[in-house]
Amino acid sequence: MKIGLLGLGTVGAGAYEIIENQKGRLQEFYQEELTVERILVRNLNKKRPVEVPDGKLTCDADEILNDPSIDVILSLMGGMEPAKTYILKALQNGKHVITSNKAVVAANLSLFLNEAKKSNVAFLFEGAVGGGIPIIKPLKQQRRLNQIEAIEGILNGTTNFILTQMMENKLEFDTVLADAQARGYAEADPSADIDGFDVQRKIAILSSLAYGQEIPTEKVYTRGIRSIRGIDTDYFQSKNLDVKLVASSAQQDDAISIWVEPCIVDPSHRFYAIKNSDNVVSFIGHLSGRLDFVGAGAGMDPTANAVISDLMDILDNHYQADIIPLAIAKNVGPTHASQDYYLRVDLLSCTKSEQARLAEQLLNLGLANNQEIYQGMIEGIEASMMRAIVSDVEKECGSIFYARRLRG
Ligand SMILES: NC(=O)c1ccc[n+]([C@@H]2O[C@H](COP(=O)([O-])OP(=O)(O)OC[C@H]3O[C@@H](n4cnc5c(N)ncnc54)[C@H](OP(=O)(O)O)[C@@H]3O)[C@@H](O)[C@H]2O)c1
Repeated sequence: MKIGLLGLGTVGAGAYEIIENQKGRLQEFYQEELTVERILVRNLNKKRPVEVPDGKLTCDADEILNDPSIDVILSLMGGMEPAKTYILKALQNGKHVITSNKAVVAANLSLFLNEAKKSNVAFLFEGAVGGGIPIIKPLKQQRRLNQIEAIEGILNGTTNFILTQMMENKLEFDTVLADAQARGYAEADPSADIDGFDVQRKIAILSSLAYGQEIPTEKVYTRGIRSIRGIDTDYFQSKNLDVKLVASSAQQDDAISIWVEPCIVDPSHRFYAIKNSDNVVSFIGHLSGRLDFVGAGAGMDPTANAVISDLMDILDNHYQADIIPLAIAKNVGPTHASQDYYLRVDLLSCTKSEQARLAEQLLNLGLANNQEIYQGMIEGIEASMMRAIVSDVEKECGSIFYARRLRG
């Protein structure tokens, strides 16, 4: 089998290394030689974490996509374009495609699955969600009989690392973020992680597969952790709680509720023990009950291992049944159910009249006021009302952080 690699960064170098280091073992198993024919990069002269023979690297995608001898494309580059165009071209040219790019998958899942079906090839993306945790394959396999009712998880290692460090070492958000960037855990532009967009894409992909309906990312109500401060984590510590960025979706009748929000958990909750860059994904099936998957949510080896697992499914010819039709999702939105919430609102930079109007509302909810910082737990408030308060405060003047209380 001949392989074309698009990208030789963290995941691409990891995948290349596994294929090269495990060549003998893979050949023994599949009675077939696996060869990485060509590798697409932007910069031919960049120093690489792996050694690649002369002539394998190219900056011309067509040398790979139009090469009839290449059977499989590993698309391991980020961003929307040219990744989308390359994936489509590869599928249309009758090549199997494996990708770890969640952004392009979340935006084009139906399109890619349909193209793959037309060409009778595989489109697989285990590395795109959960990094090293095998979740896509069990989900696709289970949903055939075991109707998936809900999915819940901690799906981003960077934010879980930041929250763990803030909680355990009593550090401020900005300090931990700067440290995570210096160590290479967080991107120079951290928005996709800390504003929740990375998790939004992942829960959209998982939920689309689970419920058989393509869920646009913009339908996923999303709050990140950018506004969390030490005053919040001090409060959680004083109550023996921990805070996590959680993604959740559930299907009831024909409606899908789906959201990404910071959540607080007590030590009896299974998410409490998920620290630093570990991730967890749980799904509930009507036959299986709850199934939990825990492991490294990203990183070179775990993600590359997920990519190579997809490759082995192609070698095993185990991909046909994976091509599932997705309907257009109709009734999708955030939950309206009543929840308990932690809320902290800082009105210091508001005008006196804004302060007075908002303060009345916040005191009525039972929050304590300490020099125009309002803080506390609110029991049993409708999620839609919380969203209205957030939008009101943010529109006017104040900074706000809230976290839903997760039980069970
Ligand atoms: N890193 C992880 O742990 C992880 C985990 C799960 C999923 N993912 C996803 O996997 C994908 C790859 O992530 P990564 O961390 O490996 O990225 P990365 O380290 O930035 O590597 C990207 C690679 O793609 C190449 N590339 C990018 N744009 C290109 C273009 N227009 N033409 C040709 N080559 C191009 C780059 O070439 P140059 O090297 O020449 O610049 C580089 O080799 C992303 O979608 C990411 O979200 C990553």
